[in-house]
Amino acid sequence: MNKEVRPFAIALLGVGRIGTMHARLLKKHPLVSRLILADVLPERAEEAAQELGCESATLDEVLSLDNPLGVEGFVIATATSTHADLLIKASDLGIPTYCEKPISMTLDEAVRAQEALEAAGLLHHIGFHRRFDVGYTRAKELVQSGELGEVRRFHAVTCDQLPPADDYIPTSGGIFVDCNAHDFDILRWVLGREVVEVYATGSARGRAIYAESNDYSDAVSILTFDDGTVGSVQSSRYNGQGYEVRLDIMGDKGSANVGLDNKAPMRSVEDDVAYPTEEPWTDFIERFKPCYEAELDHFLRNPMIGKPGACTAADAVAALKIGLACNISRDENRPVRIDEIK
Ligand SMILES: NC(=O)c1ccc[n+]([C@@H]2O[C@H](COP(=O)([O-])OP(=O)(O)OC[C@H]3O[C@@H](n4cnc5c(N)ncnc54)[C@H](O)[C@@H]3O)[C@@H](O)[C@H]2O)c1
Repeated sequence: MNKEVRPFAIALLGVGRIGTMHARLLKKHPLVSRLILADVLPERAEEAAQELGCESATLDEVLSLDNPLGVEGFVIATATSTHADLLIKASDLGIPTYCEKPISMTLDEAVRAQEALEAAGLLHHIGFHRRFDVGYTRAKELVQSGELGEVRRFHAVTCDQLPPADDYIPTSGGIFVDCNAHDFDILRWVLGREVVEVYATGSARGRAIYAESNDYSDAVSILTFDDGTVGSVQSSRYNGQGYEVRLDIMGDKGSANVGLDNKAPMRSVEDDVAYPTEEPWTDFIERFKPCYEAELDHFLRNPMIGKPGACTAADAVAALKIGLACNISRDENRPVRIDEIK
């Protein structure tokens, strides 16, 4: 049964790059009465709490079964390798949870978390924020309305301007699971279809950490959907021109192009073309802040009051399978069917 929308006591776990941004957004949200920060590095939580004027606590306090702090909702922004265990813990506690993507780096762990959430009937949302982006939403509407005709092809791009810190890479899950998870999720959502096969390749350039972690700095995957729609997903940790996230969808009656805005990191070399007119996007926070805001708002107005989240663990497992199939394709240099991923 739905409960009333009212301010809640929210505990945020993991005060790193994205956790700090979520903490700032939660602190000023009218539906957050108390914000409690916790991190495996307690001094990090204490420092951020002091800066924001909110509470901090130890992980033991926040995750204790008798819930001494009266936590009503979790926002998990810890390292990916910890998500599955924390989701299982949240299921044991029965506390609605927002969890950053990806759900896990391994299928076994991800499925364990999904099963725990489903068995407990725990309301949750997995943080695939592009589902809250105006452009992707319009593209989905155009696909659904039939205005593009039969969708035949797509091209997706996710490129960082500057790479994350080296120590992020070995525990990230690799470029397909970590970075392209966003593309895989949004393609499933926009097209409303499932991927059946992938072929992935790439190279490890720039810092040594990519080669050392059996990861790519620059990667391309080719996806085939169950209706025959084919396309490519391109990504890089180094995109000099700026932070680039785009999706082109081509149908037999028309196209939809997400991310072709005035800050797209492009440089036309044609005569008389002034586009794009503004300085390019530099990072994901600048580009997607309104989506992160909308997504936390969605969590507070839906899972927190008894309604399902927009992106479930089952969705996150589907995106993970595509990333894992890309990893096998990379390692074995062959196309990989999604139904091989078990
Ligand atoms: N949705 C997005 O656009 C987006 C963007 C960046 C990162 N992410 C995801 O968010 C997560 C965090 O990424 P990040 O870049 O902020 O990493 P980060 O390394 O900057 O921060 C992670 C934080 O979690 C803490 N931590 C690690 N294990 C913990 C545990 N067991 N309990 C409590 N705290 C713990 C670390 O001390 C650190 O402060 C990753 O899963 C990443 O994939 C999502």
